[in-house]
Amino acid sequence: MTGKIIRDLGEGLIIRHAALGDEQALVDFTTEIHSEGEWDGVGLEAWVRDLVSGDGPTFDTADFTIVENTTNGEIVSSCCHISQTWSYEGIPFKVGRPELVGTKKAYRRRGLIRQQFEILHQWSVERGELVQAITGIPYYYRLFGYEMTLNLSGGRAGYEIHVPEIKDEQVEPYHFRQAVESDIPFVEENYERGCRRSMVNVLWDDALWKYELTGKRQYNINRREIYIIENNKKEQVGFIGIPPVKWGKNSTLTIYEITPDFSWSEVTPSVIRFLWKKGEELAKEQKQEQKMFGFWLGETHPAYLVTETQLPREIKPYAYYLRVPDLAAFLKTIQPVLETRLKESAFANYTGELKLNFYRDGLSLSFENGQLKTVKNLSFDELENSSAAFPPLTFLHMVFGYRTIDEIKYMHKDCGTKDDLTAHLLDALFPKKISKVWPIS
Ligand SMILES: CC(C)(COP(=O)(O)OP(=O)(O)OC[C@H]1O[C@@H](n2cnc3c(N)ncnc32)[C@H](O)[C@@H]1OP(=O)(O)O)[C@@H](O)C(=O)NCCC(=O)NCCS
Repeated sequence: MTGKIIRDLGEGLIIRHAALGDEQALVDFTTEIHSEGEWDGVGLEAWVRDLVSGDGPTFDTADFTIVENTTNGEIVSSCCHISQTWSYEGIPFKVGRPELVGTKKAYRRRGLIRQQFEILHQWSVERGELVQAITGIPYYYRLFGYEMTLNLSGGRAGYEIHVPEIKDEQVEPYHFRQAVESDIPFVEENYERGCRRSMVNVLWDDALWKYELTGKRQYNINRREIYIIENNKKEQVGFIGIPPVKWGKNSTLTIYEITPDFSWSEVTPSVIRFLWKKGEELAKEQKQEQKMFGFWLGETHPAYLVTETQLPREIKPYAYYLRVPDLAAFLKTIQPVLETRLKESAFANYTGELKLNFYRDGLSLSFENGQLKTVKNLSFDELENSSAAFPPLTFLHMVFGYRTIDEIKYMHKDCGTKDDLTAHLLDALFPKKISKVWPIS
């Protein structure tokens, strides 16, 4: 049985939902379009099979769109949409994540992705998702209203010479074992503590952790192998997450948390030794070299502070593309955060209207004694006497704590505020803050 038709594009092309019977064709399509090597292909294949199965807690087979050439049944273009919930300083909001975006060479530049994105964006509206987020190729998604406004990954790396040695008479103080289902409460608690370092993060509930630990195929490129760190008394110390498909010559971890009862400086040397050893094992299995190890933990992380000599190389973050189609609705959702920030700033008890001009439309925020009374989108005709102007989408840099008003002004001469006080008010409401987001895949 094939998936339901969504649009007939004419000339024998249709856009339809995927069905279980598309599994192999989608695997072939995805590896042809996206794979960058043998093991990358293995990881992609496992990911696609996991998604198509619909076994994950947040994804259904029909969340793939397929453009099919009905004359021969070929898949010529496809995307998928992974729904999830993120949090903004503790306030949950729904997010749609387009992924596995691709078109066969012979069918490119005909608007096939543009049309599928219209459909995915509509699904997001129907699911109450206020934001769409993509980890994507440079520039492209700007065409569909996305702006790069949230740090993606980044980290620190070192080489064999930086792996701390353990002396012959010393006993390895910390050990690593694969996490099992009964570890979920411990992992969850520590993950959530780590999230407090990040302004935006992702809500992982029991079902998602269970799926991560026991549901995904072993080599799913987006799975993380979770290891519990224990000391010699078998006490739980923390956990780390390692990709099961090696990142080339690099052995990487992408998550690392410990409980407050232990110290990063004591635990981290053992983590590095384990990461190196794990890298050697994966290198052997996956016919790769092992030359480097890395902590891919975002822009900042407590472990970086204690490993300056072990992790000398800094890898700057890339960025998520975010799209916020109804900014007023999003700001209303995070209203308590905005009011708290105001209260804790020089503008406590503020009364007034902040009228933001985005040149083609705008936004008005009205405050009364520090309470946000109204937030509304403004049309082109309502933009006179604005307090600040931002070229389209650049205001999102402030909303997601990615850039200050001064940084945006420095980049864009058409960004301005009517006076310095307004600039300070904007920085108080939307301060620059670190985020490290681990999305649901
Ligand atoms: C990038 C890719 C998905 C685009 O697919 P497509 O079906 O050609 O996309 P569309 O035709 O719907 O593109 C819409 C617009 O983007 C433009 N465009 C297409 N590819 C582009 C690119 N790489 N960079 C910039 N613009 C691009 C098109 O010209 C079109 O513009 P227009 O509507 O003003 O004419 C396709 O080239 C591909 O599969 N590449 C390899 C895999 C990949 O990189 N996927 C993205 C992973 S994040």
